[in-house]
This record gives sequence, structure tokens and C-alpha cells, in this order.
Amino acid sequence: MEKQQILYLSQADVASVGLTMAEIIDLLEAAFREKGEGRVEMPPKPGIHPGGGDNFIHAMPAYIPAMNSAGMKWVSGFPGNYNRGLPYITGLLILNDPETGLPIAVMDCVWITAVRTAAATAVAARRLARPESAVLGVLGCGVQGTTNTEALNVLFPLERVMAYDVKPEAASSFAAQISSQFDLEVVPVDMPQQAVTGCDLVVTAGPILKVPHRTIQAGWLDAGAFASLVDFDSYWHPDAMKEADKFCTDDVPQLEHYEEVGYFQDIPPIYAELGELVTGKKPGRETPEERTMTCNLGLAMDDMAVAPVVYRRAVEKEIGTWLPL
Ligand SMILES: NC(=O)c1ccc[n+]([C@@H]2O[C@H](COP(=O)([O-])OP(=O)(O)OC[C@H]3O[C@@H](n4cnc5c(N)ncnc54)[C@H](O)[C@@H]3O)[C@@H](O)[C@H]2O)c1
Repeated sequence: MEKQQILYLSQADVASVGLTMAEIIDLLEAAFREKGEGRVEMPPKPGIHPGGGDNFIHAMPAYIPAMNSAGMKWVSGFPGNYNRGLPYITGLLILNDPETGLPIAVMDCVWITAVRTAAATAVAARRLARPESAVLGVLGCGVQGTTNTEALNVLFPLERVMAYDVKPEAASSFAAQISSQFDLEVVPVDMPQQAVTGCDLVVTAGPILKVPHRTIQAGWLDAGAFASLVDFDSYWHPDAMKEADKFCTDDVPQLEHYEEVGYFQDIPPIYAELGELVTGKKPGRETPEERTMTCNLGLAMDDMAVAPVVYRRAVEKEIGTWLPL
């Protein structure tokens, strides 16, 4: 019998495959279309919580037949890692051959997590934001603040980014990085409201907390603006979320699962899942004045939309290390 092998891709290998943000947005579009048509298998993610608090390690399996993709991400989020000089998000992804079930690759999942989350924001924004949106507010200028800016810059004629972080040095290094990489003016601001009021697009990407800090108040988000709540409802006062005319998410069963374990205790009713917007089963933005929000939880499907392409490109470019199974 032929010896079975798997391809191991380190974090640097995955990033060096060279997928662009525009390609990743297209992959997420395709996956959400499949989900909207009911053709994705994806149970809500089970998790364990070593050390308690807001620590988690989640198992995230998904099967997308149309994308010939099956696999699972095993991802940790440990907020205390910041003080240890370690990354908050770490983990591995296993890709399987959908025909035989055999594992074909093991790869670091940090890069995929960073980019697919941002691409899901873009998929939502394409339906929910005003096409002429030019000013973006970012609260939480870390990995997600950066990738969400990159993804929104693919779809919108962005001119200016208002950057707020509890650590002013994070906002200034974000400003230096973004303005050197893209043709954007980045304004680090001292007050969170300056990254909300006056913005067409708002991304909140601070830590996810079971008990939200509720910094963003009712009256801050302009009429006509769109917000992506990457850090769940942590940033938003319930009254501020209730100002949304359309409050969306990426997966209702998963949201209900989070509600059962203590998250999302005071959010507005869900208008639509992203799959329903992408397939046109429900309209996105209908007037220039609507306030719209998406609270994407991050789906196994998002990872499994991207991972097979990373694998195929790595094989083509001879990136990675083959290991015996
Ligand atoms: N929904 C999803 O699919 C998904 C996927 C990945 C990550 N996330 C979440 O996105 C968030 C950001 O992740 P990341 O990888 O960018 O982390 P990160 O550590 O790189 O960045 C977080 C940033 O937020 C800042 N911060 C902390 N508290 C803040 C506050 N109250 N206001 C403003 N800034 C604050 C930190 O200084 C840091 O710069 C996390 O909560 C993570 O769990 C969500």
C-alpha cells in the first residue's frame, strides 16, 4: 500500500502562499452562498476552557461539498497571553480528503483566522454598507483591526481611518503600518467616540468579554453607518445596538449556543444571516439612512473555504514539509 503523507504548513508557510485579500473575500462569498442554500455541514463549535475566565479552545469542523473542503480548526484564545508576550489566538487546522476522509494537511491557523474574519466583515459590508463609504473607525488596533481595514479597503473607496486603542502605542503603530501599506490617512484618536461618530464604517476588535464593557453609547453611530462587531457585543451598550435597523450575524444556531453559555445577554433580534443576504433571500441595505450591523461569530466554514486553496497553492509552489502519516 502507498505510504500516506500529510503536508505540514507553518505560520510562515501559510502566509507565503500568497493568497490576496480580494481572493479571500471571493472564497468567503462562495461559502456564504453555499450556506445560504443550506449546503454546508457545520455543527456549533464545542469548546473547553482551561484556566476558566475568558480562555477558550474551540473545535471547529465544517464540510463544504461545493468547495471540496472538509476539516477542522482547533483554535485557542487566551486573553492573559498578552502579559506573557504570547499571541492571543493560536492553533492548528487539519484538512481532510472529503472522498477518503484521510488527513492531507496540518497547518497553523493564525493567518487564516486573521484574514477570513476580515473577509466575512467585507462580505457583510458589501450588502449592508453604503457603497461610497470613505471613513472607517477602528476600535482595537491589533490583528483584526489591521486585516479588517485591509478587507474593507478592497471593496470601498476608503480615504481616512480613525484609530482608537486603549493602548495609544497600538493605535500609533497601526497608523504607521496602514499608512505605509495603503493610500490612507490614519488618525490615531484619544477618545473612542472619535472612531464612531462621523464614520461610515466602524469595526470593533478589542477583547471578547462575557460581561461587555459597553463603551459605545446610543447616539454615537451616525445614520447610514455600518458596524462590524468582531469582538461580539463587548464594545456596545445594548441601547446603541438597538439603534440598528438591521442587526445580522453569520450563523443563528451558533449565536444561540453562545447565548446559552452566557454571551449576548442583551442584543437586538437578528434580521438575517449573511448567507440569506448573499443569496438575496433577504435584502441588505434598502435606504441610505439605515444603521446596519453584523456580529459575525467566526465560522468553521470560513476557515474551510480558505484552507484547501492554501493547501493547493502550497503544493504547486512546493511550500511546506511532507510528513509520514
Ligand atoms: N468574530 C470572529 O470571527 C473573530 C475571529 C478572530 C478574532 N476575533 C476577536 O477579535 C478580537 C481582536 O482579536 P485580535 O487577534 O485582533 O487581537 P489583538 O490582541 O491583536 O488586538 C486587540 C487590540 O485591542 C486592544 N484593546 C484591548 N482592550 C481594548 C479596548 N477596550 N478598546 C480598544 N482597544 C482595546 C489591545 O490593545 C489590542 O491592540 C478578539 O476579541 C478576538 O477574540 C473574533
